[in-house]
Amino acid sequence: MSVVPHAGNGKITVPDILSRKTVPTSAIPEKQQKITCITAYDYPTARLLDDAGIDMLLVGDSLGMVVLGYDSTLPVTLDDMIHHTRAVRRGTRRALVVADMPYGSFHVSLDESVRNAVRLVKEGGAEAVKVEGGERRIELIVRLVEAEIPVVGHVGLTPQSVNALGGFHVQGKTSDAARQVERDARAVEAAGAFAVVLESMPRELAARITEKLRIPTIGIGAGPDCDGQVLVFHDLVGYATEHKAKFVRQYANLSAEISRAATQYCEDVSSGRFPSDLESYHSSTELRERVVTR
Ligand code: KIV
Repeated sequence: MSVVPHAGNGKITVPDILSRKTVPTSAIPEKQQKITCITAYDYPTARLLDDAGIDMLLVGDSLGMVVLGYDSTLPVTLDDMIHHTRAVRRGTRRALVVADMPYGSFHVSLDESVRNAVRLVKEGGAEAVKVEGGERRIELIVRLVEAEIPVVGHVGLTPQSVNALGGFHVQGKTSDAARQVERDARAVEAAGAFAVVLESMPRELAARITEKLRIPTIGIGAGPDCDGQVLVFHDLVGYATEHKAKFVRQYANLSAEISRAATQYCEDVSSGRFPSDLESYHSSTELRERVVTR
């Protein structure tokens, strides 16, 4: 299913994403279109999102919470990420596929981290990787870029730091904290990231960072002034997520639809209404006669 990126075939590439950085004037209006990104974890979802024209599909380690049922992203393994990235890549023709580096895959040594990112590209088919953390990731991002692996940074609320942060809280609310988030964003840009996710921070801080950086910012819970937006697929379509954060806009209610379908199926099977004769295969007349006459 995948398509080699070359100019003109519609495949979204890293330079395409970079070129979508909002410029302060509307001199080039077609360049002002915000970047769209949704998480995806499997083949059918990737196909549907890709057909809908989403620019970037993020195989997020949110996989751990919305698909695998963990209460944080920490247990997600590199093999989990490779498995799901492969499925997403098979369902994607146009969008840029970005895979998260899961917790533990870039915390031991730089050499091992590069090896792990290479696996996401070689085995998973990722076209870029996302790494949580700001100033602390400078050397890692430099090494990944040297290894020809495009990097998306991720600052503000970084869910892999849930234990250190004491929960999933809005970041950058004091002036010191806001300055640190801005330093983190500048650091990932300076290290060579081609985009940065800004998660859970005041709109004003995200707007300031977006204005200061040359690379696109992709916001989640960071207000409307970022160069693009990302949401977790399950939140967006209302699919078995328990807690709806303030920044989530739910565009569908798949939970209700799936429950309705499953309840109806149970009723139909229990009562004998499913399957009907029309939903059954039939023997040929000849076979029927042979069986009956035996
Ligand atoms: O893992 C994920 O889905 C993410 C997004 C929330 C940005 O990192």
